[in-house]
Amino acid sequence: MKIAFLGTGLMGEPMAFRLLKANYNLYVYNRTLSKTERLKKHQAKVFSSPEEAVKEPSIIITMLTDYNAISEVLFRDKINFKGKTLIQMSTISPQESLLIKERIENSEGEYLEAPVLGSIQQAEAGELIVMVGGNLESFNKWKKILKNFGQTVLYIGDVGKASSLKLALNQLIPSLLASFAMSLAYVIQKGIDVNTFMEILRKSALYAPTFDKKFPNMIKRDFDKANFPLKHMLKDINLILQEFQNSNINVQMVECIKNILMNAVESNLSDKDYSALYNVIHPMK
Ligand SMILES: NC(=O)c1ccc[n+]([C@@H]2O[C@H](COP(=O)([O-])OP(=O)(O)OC[C@H]3O[C@@H](n4cnc5c(N)ncnc54)[C@H](OP(=O)(O)O)[C@@H]3O)[C@@H](O)[C@H]2O)c1
Repeated sequence: MKIAFLGTGLMGEPMAFRLLKANYNLYVYNRTLSKTERLKKHQAKVFSSPEEAVKEPSIIITMLTDYNAISEVLFRDKINFKGKTLIQMSTISPQESLLIKERIENSEGEYLEAPVLGSIQQAEAGELIVMVGGNLESFNKWKKILKNFGQTVLYIGDVGKASSLKLALNQLIPSLLASFAMSLAYVIQKGIDVNTFMEILRKSALYAPTFDKKFPNMIKRDFDKANFPLKHMLKDINLILQEFQNSNINVQMVECIKNILMNAVESNLSDKDYSALYNVIHPMK
């Protein structure tokens, strides 16, 4: 089967590799051509425009930054989606997802949203959690392809529901980490052994695995290997802020996190891993 895969960035590339490994015929497009080279070496067909990449396949998967990037790639030139299904896997808001659905359906195509939880390592290993919104029949039809990205592929409901669930989960990412960063900074300032702090934390109900994942980065203040760039975390926090506000939820906490991330961006940490928020919470002397 032919699959068009658009967007081979940090997440898209390893996800595309999963499909090659499963012997699908992969038709690839990425704005920056150099990011398709490794896939090309493994038999993916690389195209210099999205229109060319989607011409033959009846299934299109996108893993692009945000709504603007998706619009740029899918709707700048007239692509005919008739008889094709788009599976959109980025983190976007439910409203944005519904807009894309409308645009695809106006062109007689079918739309599924399928945001993922997990990062590069899980994408490489096929261990992402895939949350799907859209028509149930269509979900059942394409589930087999999505299973290449992770064994946990869950039907959440209509379009918008999976995007909302993804935002609910992503809210926890910087909130948990900012909290951890604050306590870690305090422990260090007080001259207490950080290993003792971690040992107690791991044994307690307060522990979250993300703490151990990001602890070494924070201790070394080394955020260069960005699994999830800080600028994308800020993109998500902006979506969360708007969505939660519209849902009548007090967003004071989200606003604080947004400020921290914005300070990090001003300190040139945009392309670093999002755990670089530590440098804002515990500034270097
Ligand atoms: N990284 C993670 O851990 C993670 C985990 C779960 C979900 N996500 C979500 O997955 C999506 C992709 O994330 P990522 O980490 O793979 O990001 P990334 O490495 O920055 O990749 C973004 C992709 O979008 C393309 N793009 C951006 N703006 C564009 C435009 N105006 N026109 C055409 N193409 C454009 C980029 O093309 P170029 O290569 O040309 O820049 C690249 O292919 C995001 O929505 C992110 O929030 C990320």
